[in-house]
Amino acid sequence: MTQERVSPAVRVDGDVSVPGDKSISHRALILGSLAKGRTYIGNSSPAADVIATATCLRACGVWVRDFPPSRYALDGAGVGVGLRSPDGVLDCANSGTTMRLLAGMLAGSDIEAILDGDVSLRRRPMTRVVDPLRAMGAEVDASPEGTAPLRVQGSRALKALTWRSPVASAQVKSAILLAALSADGPTTVIEPVPTRDHTERMLGMCGVEVVSSGAEVTIHPGPLEPFGLRVPGDLSSASFFLALAASRPGWRVRCTGVGLNPGRTGILTVLEAMGAAVQVDEREPAGGVEPVGDVEVRGTGLHGVTISRSLTVRSIDELPIIAVLASQAEGDTEIRDAGELRNKESDRIAMLETGLRLLGVPCESSAETLVVHGPVRLRPAHLDAAGDHRFAMAWAIAAALVPAGGGESVIDGADAAAVSYPGFFTDLATLLGS
Ligand code: S3P
Repeated sequence: MTQERVSPAVRVDGDVSVPGDKSISHRALILGSLAKGRTYIGNSSPAADVIATATCLRACGVWVRDFPPSRYALDGAGVGVGLRSPDGVLDCANSGTTMRLLAGMLAGSDIEAILDGDVSLRRRPMTRVVDPLRAMGAEVDASPEGTAPLRVQGSRALKALTWRSPVASAQVKSAILLAALSADGPTTVIEPVPTRDHTERMLGMCGVEVVSSGAEVTIHPGPLEPFGLRVPGDLSSASFFLALAASRPGWRVRCTGVGLNPGRTGILTVLEAMGAAVQVDEREPAGGVEPVGDVEVRGTGLHGVTISRSLTVRSIDELPIIAVLASQAEGDTEIRDAGELRNKESDRIAMLETGLRLLGVPCESSAETLVVHGPVRLRPAHLDAAGDHRFAMAWAIAAALVPAGGGESVIDGADAAAVSYPGFFTDLATLLGS
C-alpha cells in the first residue's frame, strides 16, 4: 500500500490527456474475442481492471497480444466457439465489469469456468446477473450470499429472454446482451432508467442487429465482424481534473478526445448546473458509434444542486468527486436515488461521509441519499482510499482544494488509482506544477 501527499493547488490552468476509456476497452476485448478474425484496439485503457479482462480471455484460449502501453491485437473464433475451459480460476481482481460481462459471454459458450476476485469484488451483488443468465438456460452458481466466486457452465443453445432488470446497471444489461448472442431468438432488456449503452453501440459496430428505444434494448443473435477501434479518452478519469478546474474562478482544464456517451456525461450536466462554464467541441465518433469530443471547464462561483434519477445514473462513477466539489459550492447538494453507490468497489456513501467529515465538511446520509453542505474551507486531512480507486483520486483533488497555505494531506492506499488510472498522480502533479 502506498501513501501520497498532496498540497493545496495554487492555480490550475492546463490540458490533460487522459488514458483510454475503461468501459469501452473491456468491451472491445470481449467483442473482439467473439468476432471471427483479427481485431485491433488502439489507445486502450492501461487500467488494472482491463488487464484483468485480457488475462481472463487468454486463460479461456483467446489469442490476445498486447503492444504496451495501449494497443492490442486479438483473434476471435466467433460467438461461443474456439474457447477452452481455463485450467484455474479466472481472476477478475477488483473489476465488476470483468466478472459480470465475462459471466454473460461464457454463459453463451460450451465451457465451464470459475470467476473470482479480490475482497471488494467478493462483497458485491452477483444475483443480478446470475438470475437472468439462469433464465436463459446457463448453469450459473454464486455463493449462498449471492456473491463471487461464480461458476458458469455455458451453452450455445440458450433461450431468448425478455428481462426487466430491477437495477439500472450497464453491467447487468451487457451480460445479458452478450449471452443473447447464443440465444434461439431476439432478447430484450428493460431497465428502470437507461444506462451507458457502449455494448449496444459496439455490437452495432460489429454488424449485430440491435434495436434500442428509451430504456429498452433488443438484440438479434448473429455473427460479429472483427474491427479496428481507437478507444476515446476516459471521461470518468477526466472528471477529477474537470471538477478541480470548476472549483475556483479563473481556473481552467481542457481534456481532449474524451468519450461522450450520453450515459456517461452526467458529470458535465452537473458541473454546468453548479455554475461552471463547460465547453464541448465534438469530434469524429470512435468506431463511427461512440461520441467523442474535447471538453474544457472554467471555474466560477458554484452553487449546490440536486442530483436524482437518470442524472444519478449518468454520473454514477463521478458521484465521489461531485460530492467533494459540492463542499466548495454555496448551499446544499443533494445526491438522491444513489443506493447503488453502496454496491461499488466500496460503500461509497459511507466512504464519503467519513472522508468529508475529516476534511471538515458537514454532510449526512440515508440509505439512498447523501447531502453535502457547502461552502467549506477544507482542512488538510489523513484520508484512506480503502482499496477504492475513485477515492484515491477524489481525496487527492480534495487535498488540492484545501486553501493555499493550509498544508498537505495524506492519502493512504493511493496505489488503488491504478485500478482505472495508473498515471493519475503523475498527471495531477504536472497540472499542479509540483
Ligand atoms: C460499468 C457500469 C457501471 C459503472 C462501472 C462500469 C460498465 O456499473 O459503475 O464503473 O462498464 O458497464 P453498474 O452497471 O453496476 O452500474
